[in-house]
Amino acid sequence: MILILLGPPGAGKGTQAQRLQDKHGLVQLSTGDMLRAAVAAGTEVGKKAKAVMERGELVSDDIMTGIISDRLDQPDCKNGVILDGFPRTEAQAEALDRMLAEKGLKLNAVIEMKTDDDILVERITGRYTCANCGAGYHDIFLKPKVEGVCDKCGGTEFTRRSDDNAETVKSRLTAYHEQTAPLLPYYRGKGILKQVDGMAGIDEVTAEIEAALPTI
Ligand code: AP5
Ligand code: ZN
Repeated sequence: MILILLGPPGAGKGTQAQRLQDKHGLVQLSTGDMLRAAVAAGTEVGKKAKAVMERGELVSDDIMTGIISDRLDQPDCKNGVILDGFPRTEAQAEALDRMLAEKGLKLNAVIEMKTDDDILVERITGRYTCANCGAGYHDIFLKPKVEGVCDKCGGTEFTRRSDDNAETVKSRLTAYHEQTAPLLPYYRGKGILKQVDGMAGIDEVTAEIEAALPTI
């Protein structure tokens, strides 16, 4: 199964992708995580992406489609993937259609996580991640069971993203509305767009996504 989670920064794409990965054995392909790993490793892609990400703008379509195409060819993706953060422009969506056709794969569903902009800043500025396993948390909405200890791996070190400040979030929201939201009619036209209420609680959103998953 190939699924796209589509929504603005802070809509809950990463949170729900982790749950789908754990429950259905699909692989979460987060282009944001891949770029942050490239920045940390100091690769050529990372050097190009660093300043763009800190401004809250989008990295070039060529780089992004290349990354996803290579990743889809890896053996762990054979059972299916959740695309989290890709595609983000019409050019990326068209490139995805072409690469899936070439690889003999099919896009099964696009799930839009509908949210109001005014809650997103609170969600994003309260977010943090386990430095060891990458599990995501929130200061208010998703605390670990034992304070300061990751539920998944027992790790005690956590990190916050450098682009998770109120200023950069505004640019990321503008990029979403101008460049990514036009993908909604694109996928609606293909008859594969489903919507869930991204404003609901985390468990309710999970239940809505489960109900929206196609049976294949
Ligand atoms: P990326 O890492 O993809 O960031 P984003 O799209 O801005 O999305 P976020 O990770 O901020 O939000 P999310 O929807 O995953 O929310 P989360 O689940 O964490 O991209 C970063 C940058 O990389 C981009 O700005 C761009 O520069 C570049 N980039 C990446 N892909 C690209 C591409 N394809 N093309 C070009 N450039 C690209 O939730 C947020 C918080 O809220 C968490 O703490 C969570 O616990 C909490 N939360 C989640 N759901 C709920 C809920 N229902 N109720 C209450 N709290 C909730
Ligand atoms: Zn952990």
